[in-house]
Amino acid sequence: MSSKSIIITGGAGFIGSHLVRLFVNKYPDTRIINLDALTYAGNLENLKDIEKTPNYIFEKADILDTSALEKIFSIYNPDGVIHLAAESHVDRSILSPLDFVYTNVVGTVNLLNAAKKCWNGDYNGKKFHHVSTDEVFGALGETGFFTEVTNYDPHSPYSASKAASDHFVRAYHDTYGLPVVITNCSNNYGPNHFPEKLIPLFINNIINKKPLPVYGDGFYTRDWLYVKDHASAIDLVYHKGKAGDTYAVGGFNEWRNIDLVKLLCKLMDKKLGNAEGTSESLITYVKDRPGHDRRYAIDASKINKELGWKPTVTFEEGLAKTTEWYLENKEWLENVTSGDYQQYYEKQYEKSH
Ligand code: NAD
Ligand code: TYD
Repeated sequence: MSSKSIIITGGAGFIGSHLVRLFVNKYPDTRIINLDALTYAGNLENLKDIEKTPNYIFEKADILDTSALEKIFSIYNPDGVIHLAAESHVDRSILSPLDFVYTNVVGTVNLLNAAKKCWNGDYNGKKFHHVSTDEVFGALGETGFFTEVTNYDPHSPYSASKAASDHFVRAYHDTYGLPVVITNCSNNYGPNHFPEKLIPLFINNIINKKPLPVYGDGFYTRDWLYVKDHASAIDLVYHKGKAGDTYAVGGFNEWRNIDLVKLLCKLMDKKLGNAEGTSESLITYVKDRPGHDRRYAIDASKINKELGWKPTVTFEEGLAKTTEWYLENKEWLENVTSGDYQQYYEKQYEKSH
């Protein structure tokens, strides 16, 4: 094995686990270090199939723990960092914003400092890839798209914390010359998605015949990308992206929430052998999310033209694969929805019913 190493933070989470798997299998000569604190959203079950692969290493650490970070950087002397560790759920950010400031802002600055100290000005062959979201750009009206040059206009504590972290990453490039790249991606979906986000929450509720809480009028729009297509975009940008540059990543796949929910209901009814309309009858309109962004949509032309990336999984295929995965992995769902999840669910949704 060569001495190349990449630290991936948040590798036990939803997107991180797909990225770790891709890198471990695709780059057998590179050590892939999964650095994760294993919060409620992190789950090593997501990586069972690759945990014994020789180039995979797991380090349990919190990005708020600067001495743990220094130690891990000095052990592995990484060539690169791909940073996904974050608090990632808008509704939780409304319940406790400071957690998002600590992990997403302070944690990111800690990681930048650890990389800067380790590389000590020798940036040859080095890369710090910050994985961010399209939510930093705020909300669109009926038309238009976010691009790499759209002004930042975050509205939720989550998006404000991600925006702040993006600014720090760029500041470390401009001030210290750190070779950074940033990707701002639209909403992901797929296997291993924690059931607090729209698609996996609704799949779980359909399985358990629980109400499907649609916020507001349901006419909010998101641009959905299958998680493996996001992982392939990160792979390309990490290896070929220009230092200092930003790449917008999206699915060219906009859906109003209510239309998506109805499609999901039909698909689940078919797979569960339910009579038509069974799951749709669970749809319940509830109080809107405060500061709810009306529409997100990404123009991913730059990454397409410069690096040749485009989504490969259609929404039809992706949703079919996703629903099948949850139905085949009910134990995973049961494990992650026991304990703390129940308390979160009651706190978040009790007020709506
Ligand atoms: P997730 O919530 O599923 O996973 C987050 C991971 O980070 C978990 O494994 C958790 O244990 C870990 N983590 C949290 N706090 C930590 C800390 N203090 N120290 C170390 N590890 C910690 O998130 P996700 O949906 O996979 O998102 C990953 C990244 O991609 C995030 O930065 C998010 O902002 C970004 N992103 C997500 C989406 C999406 O649709 N999910 C879209 C665009 C960008
Ligand atoms: P979510 O999956 O939380 O992603 P984000 O807010 O980061 O885009 O939500 C996707 C959309 O679904 C968003 O418009 C909020 C809406 N939503 C509901 O209507 N009900 C719910 O219970 C949840 C979790 C989300």
